[in-house]
Amino acid sequence: NTEKKALFTIFGGTGDLAKRKLYPSLYRLYKKGYLKKQFAVIGTARREWTDDFYREIVIDSIRDITDSPEHALKFASHFYYQSHNVTDVNHYDTLKKLSNKLDEEYQLNGNRLFYLAMSPNFFGIISQNLKDRDLITTCGFNRLIIEKPFGHDFESALKLNNQIRASFEENQIYRIDHYLGKEMVQNISAVRFGNYIIESMWNSRYIDNIQITLSESLGVEERGGYYDTSGALRDMLQNHILQIISLLAMEPPTRLEDKEIRTEKIKALRAVRLFEPNEVTGHMVRGQYGPSLDDSSENLNGYREEINVAPDSQTETFVAGKILIDNFRWMDVPFYFRTGKRLAKKGTQIDIEFKNVPLNLFDNNDEPLPANILTIYIQPTEGFSLELNTKKIGLGLETETLKLEHKHSAETTANSPEAYEKLILDCLNGDSTNFTHWDEVATSWKFVDVIREHWDNETVNFPNYASGSMGPTASEQLLITDGFKWHWCPNEK
Ligand code: BG6
Repeated sequence: NTEKKALFTIFGGTGDLAKRKLYPSLYRLYKKGYLKKQFAVIGTARREWTDDFYREIVIDSIRDITDSPEHALKFASHFYYQSHNVTDVNHYDTLKKLSNKLDEEYQLNGNRLFYLAMSPNFFGIISQNLKDRDLITTCGFNRLIIEKPFGHDFESALKLNNQIRASFEENQIYRIDHYLGKEMVQNISAVRFGNYIIESMWNSRYIDNIQITLSESLGVEERGGYYDTSGALRDMLQNHILQIISLLAMEPPTRLEDKEIRTEKIKALRAVRLFEPNEVTGHMVRGQYGPSLDDSSENLNGYREEINVAPDSQTETFVAGKILIDNFRWMDVPFYFRTGKRLAKKGTQIDIEFKNVPLNLFDNNDEPLPANILTIYIQPTEGFSLELNTKKIGLGLETETLKLEHKHSAETTANSPEAYEKLILDCLNGDSTNFTHWDEVATSWKFVDVIREHWDNETVNFPNYASGSMGPTASEQLLITDGFKWHWCPNEK
């Protein structure tokens, strides 16, 4: 593996994301030899920590993925801590001195990766100060990784983007959507473009509908403060779900390269039909979890009882909808999606339902043959299945539906690279394929804003689903009205 040289500056270095995702990902890259000797990490945050204390935190965060305390110690020796107030310009001078010193010590050739793992309110000021105080180098690469949420709506996203663009070029900005780093999300392109049998049927002539489920069993946990101002629409649809839809819907790119793929994704997103305000209710369902049902084994709180959530909150913790894409390939094929917190089971999957054969020739011909379903299991199981109708063994000509299935073993899944690990490596390689371009962000917000605006003007009767259920019944109804039903059912193995 080619060694990457860079200085990582992590804003929000004491935070949860850094500890849960970033340090373990850097360690995995270190273990695999992508990071060796020529790298250093500066963690910054307001707290006063020493390098030694910081290194202990780093070691603690990789405890479960290392079996060698010496190796962990060696890795942590590349970490430095700098107490930093993002609004104080003088602090950037201190940071610059430390950066230059480390650059010399580790011979980093001026390569800089700035990681903003903190509140987006500070993204603008940080990027401005990085530029004004000369932390952006002229000899190496300078890349900025930004965590979500990228704005609150189109206007705020545009403002934020303009602030960042005043200091960094679009091709230096890496907006993270961690779903794009997931193994099976990346596999969508391989399944489509690596199999002619599939890609030739990947259109409205053969596909009846597509269903995307991102189901979470946890509630908002300790993130009530953030979540209550966001809700499922902004938290999941604007980014993860629309990104998945763009990968499913895009035209084949000429090459699997960032610019080519992005062009196709943006074209697909631009073809998503925007709702008129009076269409929102017919196409979208929102929900909020209440306590678990009386007979449930677990007694869970409702959303309104969660910490930092308003007792009369109108924030949705569930959203389902029907998206239509107005282009030749997808005209009139509904893309249904649903996502929510405190649902029956954690699971992310995509079900592609093909059209029924025009005539059932078999003995069980009083009803139509079940549709063929191609399923992409994203998590926690990773794999595929295809449901086919075949002859039932026996003297007659009855059919039965069989499932061809491949699921990666638990061991393979456990050893597959983490989303953050892949994305950080992509960024080190200057490959922005699996990051979201501004045009994608802008188009997604425009779609979401229509729904949000309509919803904000209507009060709903929340809560409307019990913890541990699969969301409000209106989400089932959304498909029933069109003659379909959700294929994924939480009781299935
Ligand atoms: C995040 C959301 O982007 O994705 C969270 O902010 C959500 O609310 C999470 O829980 C889901 O990610 P994953 O990888 O656990 O499916």
